[in-house]
Amino acid sequence: MNSKIEQLLAEVEQFTADTEQKIEEFRIKMLGKKGVLTRLFDDFKTVSAERKKELGQKLNVLKNKAQDKIKTLKDQLGNGSSDSSLSVDKTMPGVRSEVGTRHPLSVVKNEIVEIFNRLGYVTAEGPEMEDDWHVFSALNFAPDHPARDMQDTFFINTDSDNPILLRTHTSSVQVRIMEKQQPPIRVVCPGRVFRNEDISARAHCIFHQVEGLYIDENVSFADMKQTLLYFTREMFGENVEIRLRPSYFPFTEPSAEMDVSCTICGGKGCNICKYTGWLEIMGCGMVHPNVLEACNIDSKKYSGFAFGMGVERIAQLKWQVSDIRLYFENDVRFLNMFRTVV
Ligand code: PHE
Repeated sequence: MNSKIEQLLAEVEQFTADTEQKIEEFRIKMLGKKGVLTRLFDDFKTVSAERKKELGQKLNVLKNKAQDKIKTLKDQLGNGSSDSSLSVDKTMPGVRSEVGTRHPLSVVKNEIVEIFNRLGYVTAEGPEMEDDWHVFSALNFAPDHPARDMQDTFFINTDSDNPILLRTHTSSVQVRIMEKQQPPIRVVCPGRVFRNEDISARAHCIFHQVEGLYIDENVSFADMKQTLLYFTREMFGENVEIRLRPSYFPFTEPSAEMDVSCTICGGKGCNICKYTGWLEIMGCGMVHPNVLEACNIDSKKYSGFAFGMGVERIAQLKWQVSDIRLYFENDVRFLNMFRTVV
């Protein structure tokens, strides 16, 4: 029996295998129900009392070594560190790893921001979760203005007199800049905004904006018009016209809505521009003196203009995507359509 154990110990020591199957065969042979160890343990019962201790210990060593060996070989296989070159077919074609693309909304947002960067505007970002002061009060919204209503705004905490909410526009970032910095100020503020609206092909409760602000001495409405015309032509092409229509925002006076001549039909009239020849793309106006004062900027010395546009809207006009929801579903079939756009 001793020599049998010695022989098996040597066998375990030398054994190596590079497939799951070979390891399993070895396990059955050594440790299986009808394996050699089972038989040896049976024989062990008949061993004389004075040899039991020595042989018993040896048998246990053999069993442990066999178990360790099987575990080590299995681990090696699992790690792919088997040294056998047979398990790798080096002639097989490689698997190409997919390269991602920039999201179409990021492409458009970057394009908008870069146009203003070229005009000397710096990019600024701020928190998506804001307080009432930065989103409404500092921007001259009356305490009972309907935009504060639960219908439009996602409130997080209304316990204090300065409630916490999800920003409904990135004008809040402009307030933060004005509070920190004296003019001249030239910033663009891209970011995600939230409004409590039903999701449809044309509206979403989450969307993206780029807003801008320019404050200095003697900034005029004409400066705004020229800046926005420059932006529009950089974005949509040399032949595009703009028009400004009177509008209302609490934080600008006068306020306007800016239209561009329809990028699809060139102004002749089509179903995208609803046969008007014009598409609305942004709100704008001269910063209200109350806003400047709320941010400790002298409204007698300084004036400025602000504007804000929706990134989804610009993207929609650029690529004629009729359903805004596609931008949020992240279906790779949709996203891959913009592969070459970057
Ligand atoms: N903040 C406005 C909005 O979200 C857009 C805007 C910005 C209008 C600046 C005028 C001036 O709709």
